[in-house]
Amino acid sequence: MRVLVLQGPNLNLVGTREPHIYGSTTLDEIHAMIREHAASLGVEVETYQSNHEGDLIDRLHRRDFDAAIVNAAGLTHTSVSLRDALLAVERPFVEVHLSDPAKREAFRSVNFLQDVAVASFVGMGPRGYLLALDEIVRRDSTGGAR
Ligand code: DQA
Repeated sequence: MRVLVLQGPNLNLVGTREPHIYGSTTLDEIHAMIREHAASLGVEVETYQSNHEGDLIDRLHRRDFDAAIVNAAGLTHTSVSLRDALLAVERPFVEVHLSDPAKREAFRSVNFLQDVAVASFVGMGPRGYLLALDEIVRRDSTGGAR
């Protein structure tokens, strides 16, 4: 099974960006944790980060994955197009946020992805990505990944 980990705008700066909110673990370190966990589960992962909405959409359109883990960052709260792309490619995805957007500014409570995600892990820091991977594997093994 191939899992795409899609990371949205500004997540390349995690580790130094507002560490009181997002922690001090860098994106490379988070990706290393994901790869290690994926190897232990026998899952193939690819990580992809972009600051550009269209790049994220183009990456999804390749459809070369069975399921995705998506932290769309600020696009979560604004992007109908990213939501449409996720629906168009017909792959299950788990939503992850390092922080819990619902407990922050009111505008972060608008979420264009949550109702079409198969699960969400928020406010757990990098561990959310590992739980998302577990959830994808669990759903796949029970035939519910799609
Ligand atoms: C985030 C939460 C979003 O509201 C914010 O725009 C981000 C990061 C998170 O991981 O907590 O860029 O997705």
